[in-house]
Amino acid sequence: AETRRCLVEERVRAFPDFPVPGVLFRDITPLLKDPIAFGAAIDLLEAHLKTSYPQIDCIAGLDARGFLFGPVLAQRLGIGFVLIRKKGKLPGLTESVSYALEYGQAELEIQSDAVEPGQKVVLLDDLLATGGTMSAACELMKKLKAEVLECLVLIELKSLKGAEKLKPFSIYSLLQYD
Ligand code: PRP
Repeated sequence: AETRRCLVEERVRAFPDFPVPGVLFRDITPLLKDPIAFGAAIDLLEAHLKTSYPQIDCIAGLDARGFLFGPVLAQRLGIGFVLIRKKGKLPGLTESVSYALEYGQAELEIQSDAVEPGQKVVLLDDLLATGGTMSAACELMKKLKAEVLECLVLIELKSLKGAEKLKPFSIYSLLQYD
């Protein structure tokens, strides 16, 4: 597992001062370009979920980079994948939750029939920073009466204390940075 984790870590780049001065951007595009490292990331996530949550019903991915990992992982586990999108992209009946960004507000949305009440869901994104986006996704699950087993990310930026914001929901990350 440690070898796989290293393969993944080697394929994450850091860009200082993007998108704004003072922010160190963690870029996963090299990971997507390398099938061995990408496979290692999916292997690790799959092993973790199989061990910790054998009862999982589906994976809900967060717009946009949760969509890059979610469907592959869900297919490996033999379960469905559903979309949590930025507002205004999904047709039909929807639920939405607004959340605070550094500047201003944003809104996440899900189709009302994406998950059934009582279903056990894992939320997935590429990265946890302040936890605002993931918290909004948890709220959406609450609205649909689904049970969040865990919030799962490839990368956790520890210093921004997203894990604290997410409580009582638990977070699992493959890579951690300060
Ligand atoms: C990034 C990242 C997470 C979110 C984490 O997405 O992919 O979804 O920020 O930040 P938070 O923990 O402080 O809420 P971004 O908002 O850049 O949107 P995008 O995926 O559409 O690029």
